[in-house]
Amino acid sequence: MNPTLLDTLPRDRLPALLQAMPKAELHIHIEGSLEPELIFALAERNGVTLPYPGVEALRAAYAFTDLQSFLDIYYAGASVLLKEDDFFDMAMAYFRRAAADNVVHAELFFDPQTHTDRGVPFETVINGLTRACQTAREELGVSALLIMCFLRHLSEEAAFDTLAQATPYLDRITGVGLDSGERGNPPEKFARVFARCRELGLRLVAHAGEEGPAEYIRAALDVLNVERIDHGVRCVEDPALVARLAAQRIPLTVCPLSNVKLCVVGTMADHNLATLLDAGLCATVNSDDPAYFGGYINQNFLEAFAALPQLNARHAHTLARNSFDASFVDGDTKGRWRDRLDAVFERAAS
Ligand code: HPA
Ligand code: ZN
Repeated sequence: MNPTLLDTLPRDRLPALLQAMPKAELHIHIEGSLEPELIFALAERNGVTLPYPGVEALRAAYAFTDLQSFLDIYYAGASVLLKEDDFFDMAMAYFRRAAADNVVHAELFFDPQTHTDRGVPFETVINGLTRACQTAREELGVSALLIMCFLRHLSEEAAFDTLAQATPYLDRITGVGLDSGERGNPPEKFARVFARCRELGLRLVAHAGEEGPAEYIRAALDVLNVERIDHGVRCVEDPALVARLAAQRIPLTVCPLSNVKLCVVGTMADHNLATLLDAGLCATVNSDDPAYFGGYINQNFLEAFAALPQLNARHAHTLARNSFDASFVDGDTKGRWRDRLDAVFERAAS
């Protein structure tokens, strides 16, 4: 594509372009897409009593001070998920939002331990989610993969037990990740389980450098052998690490609204997204837990670009291209999506 197009596009055309450009979402916890309305609908369907009188009261509780204050409410919200259809309905609601945001591919995190620890069989979770992934492809034209996350506040033994439960379904699971409370739960705790997942041919990612230090990013790379870092924004505290991430082209799945809502940064104007891109890092923009953090992927793009005047059409194109490059699909598919991206930019500039 003509490189000068990217430098001449007026800033006021950016919001429409951010909306229209095809993109992949690589950091979305599907349980974090449960909107309060659906939480209450599922609670009623399943006879679950919630500790909030209604949708407004629940939404009013979404004032987080850190990651843990969010996780407490997030796990409470997930308690309404009991049946295969609940997981299907949750994921389909996300896919419809994603399609409206021109997401052509999504890699969904799911947290089996949040459900199996409540007595919901692993099979129920995986069947609902895989049926939704198939329906999304057929009815919405959105491609999707599943990444199973281990909860890092739980033990290594619990992670191995979850992997054993997943074993009959590994053909439906592309990779594994590591989420939940980061501080005090360093990557090393899961070295052996990640080594086993690698032997099984699973792709590897991990949350690191969200609330935890840059050292956790190094450990995720060196000890867990992950291919992508989820969040990773605290890498800037270690310039040698930034240089390494750029040289090795390790993708970071950045989630701007999440970082603001969980007080990882003060305001969106303080976010380092532009710094990461200008340092040559393969950063992407994602929604993390969109029902809790104030918006889906396009809202993240719009708010970040509105608050950071350095970001321009070239950054927008780079972010969308990075999302395809960093995805776990084959090279031909990435190439087709990159061509679609270029076509949208060329049309916008003409
Ligand atoms: N960080 C860690 N764990 C999570 C998150 C997050 O942003 N969202 C859901 N689980
Ligand atoms: Zn996350």
